[in-house]
Amino acid sequence: MRFSIVASALLAYAATVLSAPSPSDFKVVNMLRTVDLMKAYVRDSSSFILENTSSEPKSSFYLAVNSSYFDDDETTPKLAMYEVKLKADDASTTPLEFEIAPEVNEDGMRLVEVALKTPLEVGSSQTIQLVTAVVRELSPIPKKIKQSEPQNLMWEGTKVSYMPYPIVKQRTKVKTADRPPNAYSKHIDDPLVEGTTLTYGPYNDVEPYAYDPILVKYEYNIPVIEVSKLERELWVSHTGGNLATEERYWLKNAGAELKDNFSRIRWQASTMARERTPALRSASVHLRPGVRDVYFTDEIGNVSTSNFRDDPRSPIMEIRPRYPIFGGWNYSFTLGWNHDLGRSLRSLVDSEGETVYVLRVPLIEGLMNVYYNEVEVSVVLPEAAEILSVESTYTDVTEERSLLFSHLDAVGRTVVKLKAKNMIDEQKRSELYVTYTLPSNGQYAKPMLVATALITVFFAVIVLGRIDISIGKTKTA
Ligand SMILES: *[C@@H]1O[C@H](CO)[C@@H](O)[C@H](O)[C@H]1NC(C)=O
Ligand SMILES: *[C@@H]1O[C@H](CO)[C@@H](O)[C@H](O)[C@H]1NC(C)=O
Ligand SMILES: *[C@@H]1O[C@H](CO)[C@@H](O)[C@H](O)[C@H]1NC(C)=O
Ligand SMILES: *[C@@H]1O[C@H](CO)[C@@H](O)[C@H](O)[C@H]1NC(C)=O
Ligand SMILES: *[C@@H]1O[C@H](CO)[C@@H](O)[C@H](O)[C@H]1NC(C)=O
Repeated sequence: MRFSIVASALLAYAATVLSAPSPSDFKVVNMLRTVDLMKAYVRDSSSFILENTSSEPKSSFYLAVNSSYFDDDETTPKLAMYEVKLKADDASTTPLEFEIAPEVNEDGMRLVEVALKTPLEVGSSQTIQLVTAVVRELSPIPKKIKQSEPQNLMWEGTKVSYMPYPIVKQRTKVKTADRPPNAYSKHIDDPLVEGTTLTYGPYNDVEPYAYDPILVKYEYNIPVIEVSKLERELWVSHTGGNLATEERYWLKNAGAELKDNFSRIRWQASTMARERTPALRSASVHLRPGVRDVYFTDEIGNVSTSNFRDDPRSPIMEIRPRYPIFGGWNYSFTLGWNHDLGRSLRSLVDSEGETVYVLRVPLIEGLMNVYYNEVEVSVVLPEAAEILSVESTYTDVTEERSLLFSHLDAVGRTVVKLKAKNMIDEQKRSELYVTYTLPSNGQYAKPMLVATALITVFFAVIVLGRIDISIGKTKTA
C-alpha cells in the first residue's frame, strides 16, 4: 500500500481492533470543503470538527477515498497527495498517520483509518484538516478543439463529502481560475455563485455514507502539463566547490487536442493579440538564488529564445519551446545550472574527529502548475564518499545506490537515486538530505591515479623513443 505509513504501532493496532467504523462513534461538525480547479490537477481540501460521541475507547477514526483514484496494479494511481492533520487552537498542525484499506465497499470507496495522537473525551472535539490532490482527473470537453477555440475542462465530484459518520453541517466551494464555470449542477437556488466560486450548501444533518454527484464545466485556457518523466541529476564536486544540476523533462500537454492542422498564420495572429491559449507557449522555472550558467536545450540543441532573469532573490528561467505545444503534443528538453556547493553543504566534525558532510537539496524544483508521473532524482557524490544516511521529507520514495565511474575515477562515485511516482508542483517544498563522509584515503586516490597514469604515458613515450629519457626521469620523480 503506497500511501500508508506502516508504523508498527499502527499495525499492532490494526491486528487488535479489526472493527469497521461505527457511525455512532463520531459526528462531523462544520465541514468546509474547497475544491480548487485552478491548476492542472484537482486540489481538494477540507476542514471539519470531529466530535467524540462514543462511550468506548477509540484511538482512531475513518475517512474514505474513491477507489477510482487507484489502479489495479497501483503503477499510476491518480491520488498524488493525501494529508490528514490535526489543527490546534493556535492554528499549528500535526500530521496524523493513516492507512488506506485495500477493500472497496459497495459505493466504490476505500476506507482510510486515521490514528489519533491523543484520545478525545466524550463530547470533546478536535479540528481535522484533509488535503488531497488528484491528477489525470480533469477531462477536456470537447476532446478536440480548433486552434482559436477556448478549452473547457470537466470536473466530476460530490456535493457532500463521503463520510462514515453523520455530518451536522457542510459547505462545498468550487473555485475556478478566472471565469465563472459555464455549466454546473444546479438545484433550485443551490449553488451560490460569487465571482469564480460556486458554494454548494450548507447541507444539514447528512446521513453517513451519503453522496450526491455534481458536474462542473469551466473554461481553462491554460496548458494542462503532465510531466511523464523527470530525471534530475545533481553532481557534488568538493574540488570545484560546485553543485551541478541537470534536469531532463518529458512532458505532454494533456489538454484538448487540435481538431485541424496547426496554422502558423493563425498562431502568429493570436500571439500578436496576446490571446490566452491552452497551448504551452512558455513556462517560468523558479530557481534558487545563486544559480549560474543556466542552459535550456532540446533535441535540436540550445534553445536561444529562452530568457534568464537573474533576480537575486528569485531567479527565473523563462523557457520558450521552439513551437507551441498543443493538446496531445509532447516536448522533451533539458535544463541545467550550477550552484556554489557551499549553499547546500554543511560539514561538522563528529566525536571521532571525522568530518561529516550534510547535503540538503530540494527533491524537485522548477516548473509551476504541473504534475509528474515519474520522478527520478540522482545525487552523484564525490569519489570514495561513504553514505551515512539518506532522508527525504517526501517519504513515498524508493531508494537505489550504485557506483559510477567517470574519467580517471579509481574507486567510483556513489550515486543515490530516489524514485517517486505521482508528485505535484506543490511538493517541491520537499527536501532531500544526504549525509556522508569522505575517508581521507579517498582524497588521495585521484592524485595517485593521475600520477600512475602519467607514469604510464611517460613509459609509453619512452618506448616510442620520442623524448629524452632524462627529461622523463626528472618529471616523474
Ligand atoms: C471517546 O470518549 C470515550 C469516553 O471518554 C473514550 O473512552 C474514547 O477513547 C474516546 N474516543 C476517542 C477516539 O478518543
Ligand atoms: C468515485 O469516482 C467515480 C468516477 O469518477 C464517480 O463516478 C463516483 O461518483 C465516485 N464516488 C463517490 C462516492 O464519490
Ligand atoms: C493536415 O495535413 C495533412 C498533411 O500535411 C493532410 O494530409 C491533411 O489533409 C490535413 N488535414 C486537414 C484537416 O487540413
Ligand atoms: C544559448 O541561448 C542563450 C539564449 O537563451 C544564449 O544566451 C547562449 O549564449 C546560447 N548558448 C550557446 C552555447 O549557444
Ligand atoms: C508522447 O509521449 C508518450 C510517452 O511519454 C508516448 O506514449 C506518446 O506516443 C507520445 N505522443 C506523441 C504524439 O509522440
